[in-house]
Amino acid sequence: MSIKNFTKKLLVWYDLNKRDLPWRNSINPYIIWVSEIILQQTRIEQGLPYFKKFINKYPNVFELSRANLDELMNIWQGLGYYSRATNMHKASKIIVQEFSGDFPVSYESLVKLPGIGDYTASAISSICNNECKIVVDGNVMRLFSRLFDLRKEVNSIGLKNQIKFIGDKLISKSKPGDFNQALMDFGSMVCSPKNYKCGNCIFSKDCIAFKNNTIDLLPVKKAKVMIKTRYFNYLIGLSNNDKVKIIKRNKKDIWQDLYEFPLVETNHEIDISETGKKFKKISYFNSKKVIKKLTINHKLTHQNLNIYFWIFKTNFEDKNCIKINDLESYPFPKPLFEIISQIK
Ligand code: ADE
Repeated sequence: MSIKNFTKKLLVWYDLNKRDLPWRNSINPYIIWVSEIILQQTRIEQGLPYFKKFINKYPNVFELSRANLDELMNIWQGLGYYSRATNMHKASKIIVQEFSGDFPVSYESLVKLPGIGDYTASAISSICNNECKIVVDGNVMRLFSRLFDLRKEVNSIGLKNQIKFIGDKLISKSKPGDFNQALMDFGSMVCSPKNYKCGNCIFSKDCIAFKNNTIDLLPVKKAKVMIKTRYFNYLIGLSNNDKVKIIKRNKKDIWQDLYEFPLVETNHEIDISETGKKFKKISYFNSKKVIKKLTINHKLTHQNLNIYFWIFKTNFEDKNCIKINDLESYPFPKPLFEIISQIK
């Protein structure tokens, strides 16, 4: 299982083809950390504007540690997996308090921080501290599965360990950070999921999947997980003063720490005739005062959300009611944010 001059060839390819990314000229661990956390579960094109906004607002770990959580979530709005942002906030406080703001760069100290696992600790420690820790992300799993005909299921511990075993032998001792980023760029730009460019691939002669014509079959896909369908009813009561009640989500569920309207979750779509019974817990809801019902379908990786917005008039107000015109300054999940313009 060896490819002649793999490391050297890959680094030469990287020098000629690497993507021009704003963190590529930096070995500042804070900058690298922000980029790597944003790029987890996120494509580079989608993540780039978020990276720029984030660094603009929080240029260093001290600024982040002092961040107001709502403002931080506002920056993250639309990117999903919101616990990434809350974990970054927690980690920044630890770094300021326990490391005097000196961002750790060793793998061992990094993995102890909230939100930093093997992947992120490997990326930061290889880029900022020249540690020979191979990164295993989706791009690397695809590339190695194809090159070496690895047939363990994608994302499984078994596949990751196999790749680490091979990668430890291949990683460049002098440029482990470049090597890791080269693997990710090569996997994403050449050994792509569908539009793979075997005609331009410097390793096609050595690639077992290319030889066997099994590129489409690798990496081995995960068995389909069950998609859960949920029914969210948001009760948007517009008061005489143009105010509406909002609540911060804090349950261990999707959209943690974002805001929402009073919610009734049901197990099917509710008809107006059922609202009296189903929406009992929102005492000020009155089906006769409903102006409109809007519907949005929103798909998450493992959930299919049917979201219904029941917009009605009310004279109810409490301390959690805010002006409709101020709604946009609060961090809302994307499908709720999109509805705000239709409430006004
Ligand atoms: N995906 C996540 N982090 C990356 C990096 N540093 N380079 C290329 N692709 C990436």
